[in-house]
Amino acid sequence: MRLIVTKDYAAMSDAAADYVADFIRTNPDASLTPATGSTPVGLYEELALRRQRGRLDASRLRIFQLDEYLGIAADDSRSLYGWLQRALLQPMGIPTDNVVSLPGNAPDPLAACHAYHAAVVAAGGLDLALLGLGPNGHLGYNDPPADANSTTRLLKLSESSLQGAANYFGGYDRVPRQALTMGMDLLLAARHKLLVVSGAHKREILRQALLGPVTPDVPASYLQQAANVTVIADEAAADPAVLAKFGSSL
Ligand code: GLP
Repeated sequence: MRLIVTKDYAAMSDAAADYVADFIRTNPDASLTPATGSTPVGLYEELALRRQRGRLDASRLRIFQLDEYLGIAADDSRSLYGWLQRALLQPMGIPTDNVVSLPGNAPDPLAACHAYHAAVVAAGGLDLALLGLGPNGHLGYNDPPADANSTTRLLKLSESSLQGAANYFGGYDRVPRQALTMGMDLLLAARHKLLVVSGAHKREILRQALLGPVTPDVPASYLQQAANVTVIADEAAADPAVLAKFGSSL
């Protein structure tokens, strides 16, 4: 595991954009799953800027949607698919034909999860999982407990995740109670994993994920045992003990 600690959020976004842009240049046909949420927004903006300046072509990437709310159609503006469209796919010129979605409104969600898993396997697995860290240690919507073998599935969202999504849905009561998520199995098997973390509110959970016991109660802790993991965190999120064990400062 490699940890890069940056001064602040903007520097974290820049460093992550350097990583992802290099990755895309080396692997223009890569299969990638991108996180939603507030943490990667600056990273996606920075990637879009580099594309505008003609320095980056992402049009051949294959994108695998990381998670989606149950009952929310892709064309619903509240869907995570819609969020991804606005934040990453459109600004980066990635055609929708290149995207394998997790359909939140599938008539048979379990069958949709199986089909999704099969599509990832058929693509040869993921080259890059670009992840954020949930306040409870989740990756994607793998809320605890989630072990390393948990598969793509429909699950009940935790209290923490429901509260985290309340603003996005305009109120806690409006948040769908269930979601579809890519499983830990596919995430951990990705050939490269990039975790971006920002803010003092993530400091304790990042410490647990990187230094605590490897446990289903902190799904991100499985990254300790995975190959090719890069964590880019800002100073606010990086506990001194974490920095001492893994880190290098920019
Ligand atoms: C979200 C998503 C995750 C995301 C995480 C952290 O709800 N399901 O994919 O990485 O929670 O979100 P944020 O970056 O807003 O803290």
